[in-house]
Amino acid sequence: MKISVKNADIKNEVCDVVVINLFEGVKNPSGATGVINEAVNNKIVDYIINMEDFKGEFGTFYTLPVLNNEIAAKKILIAGLGKKEDFNLNKLRELSAKIINECKKNKKDKNIVSILHGAGEGELCTKCCAKMIAEGITIANYKFDKYLSDEDKNKTAQIENFIICENDETKIEKIKEGLYIGETIAKASNFAKDLINEAAYVMTPNKLSEVAKSIDEVDIKIYDKKDIEKMDMGAYLAVARGSVNEPKFIHLTYKPKNPNGKKVAIIGKGITFDSGGMDLKPPSSMLNMKDDMSGAACVIGLFSVLNELNINTEVHGIIAACENMISGCAYKPGDILKAKNGKTIEVDNTDAEGRLTLADALCFADELNVDEVIDVATLTGACMVALGTCASGIMGTNQELINKLIEVSKVSDEKLWQLPLYEEYDKSLKSDIADMKNTGSRYAGASTAGVFLSKFIKNKNWAHIDIAGTAFLEKPDKYGVKMANGAMVRTLLYYLKECKCK
Ligand code: BES
Ligand code: MG
Ligand code: ZN
Repeated sequence: MKISVKNADIKNEVCDVVVINLFEGVKNPSGATGVINEAVNNKIVDYIINMEDFKGEFGTFYTLPVLNNEIAAKKILIAGLGKKEDFNLNKLRELSAKIINECKKNKKDKNIVSILHGAGEGELCTKCCAKMIAEGITIANYKFDKYLSDEDKNKTAQIENFIICENDETKIEKIKEGLYIGETIAKASNFAKDLINEAAYVMTPNKLSEVAKSIDEVDIKIYDKKDIEKMDMGAYLAVARGSVNEPKFIHLTYKPKNPNGKKVAIIGKGITFDSGGMDLKPPSSMLNMKDDMSGAACVIGLFSVLNELNINTEVHGIIAACENMISGCAYKPGDILKAKNGKTIEVDNTDAEGRLTLADALCFADELNVDEVIDVATLTGACMVALGTCASGIMGTNQELINKLIEVSKVSDEKLWQLPLYEEYDKSLKSDIADMKNTGSRYAGASTAGVFLSKFIKNKNWAHIDIAGTAFLEKPDKYGVKMANGAMVRTLLYYLKECKCK
């Protein structure tokens, strides 16, 4: 889909659909909606508003065919913005996604012209409106159809052009900038989705490392099994041992052209398939476990656009990729492992593998002397039980960092909710024969996993984000996104980009 802006009169734009909008309760629409209303002989006011066919409730639509060439578009789509006082940039992103989903219902609708929703009567910042629209439409236009037959692929419409029509020439540059940022952020998220939705037999640790290697203008070092052994990553190696697909430890480095002096490491859990190991998962829990590399996909998604977004922070991306499989070589309950920092771990449950791989990755990040370490992981079913599929859990050692990430998640609209790392949770990880066990009590599972991770990082600016509930959706979310959803890509990009405007 090509997204662009045009300085033109919306009445004259030739397209399949022209999208205008209406706030709830508006009787005499102004701006572009007013212009279109006039051009179609007041039909919008006379028939749609006055006859109360359409009230403008948020996310609802009304389609009006164009007769007698009153305007150049073939039909008019009126998007309901809801109550003016409730409208904001997050609503705009959501509405934009809904517009795409609405247009996709008709196969013939390929060329869309839209006004810049939110910037007129909505009084929101022009650049941010453009950003939200580009983000929303790009997220919603995503599809994973590579394994479908051509016939099935063609069943849904593919939007080819989305043009923002703006009659005020002075706004064009700002709109262009916004569209570029929004589209780039959403592209990164869609890239992550592609990696997660791919089948696990394709998206192996090696494949993941090759995808990471294909990113332009970032440095990469890939460590293979022998290198990982030399680095004494005994916890990570144990998890990897059960699979014929060897582990790959991936270290990406992005050096900014205009450095601001800050260095951040972002670690992504990269279990390309989690069978549970010897503590095998039941079938229903194993079904979507190709998504257990969603943290890794998030890191790769971020790296794919750091240059394009001109990020000024130095960013390290770290992925300890491997499979958690069951075989004659697999690690066993009762095994005692030694992590990179020398600490020993008694394996209580082989299905708590993510924290073992992350333990060594955290030790590695510690040695990079970065200012902050953030890890993103599909770590615990307990987090999903606690927060559901609409919020990720966040915990860590620096409240300021956590607060900043929570604030930015309100801008990206990927909810983060803090969970505690109380000292009390320590007890349940006590082992009689090693420094700790890898699992503790059945209760507070997300926090216990967090406490476990905290033993492997000295850096006091550490945040852990558990995306077990948010990474892969069985039902479509409010953007219409199902399956992989690129969790935390947008949030971390907004964080790195230091977007100020709300
Ligand atoms: N990958 C899973 C966590 C997960 C669960 C991700 C559901 C996405 C959806 C993780 O490796 C795991 O198996 N965790 C165990 C830990 C337990 C054994 C302490 C869990 O949550 O059941
Ligand atoms: Mg597991
Ligand atoms: Zn896992």
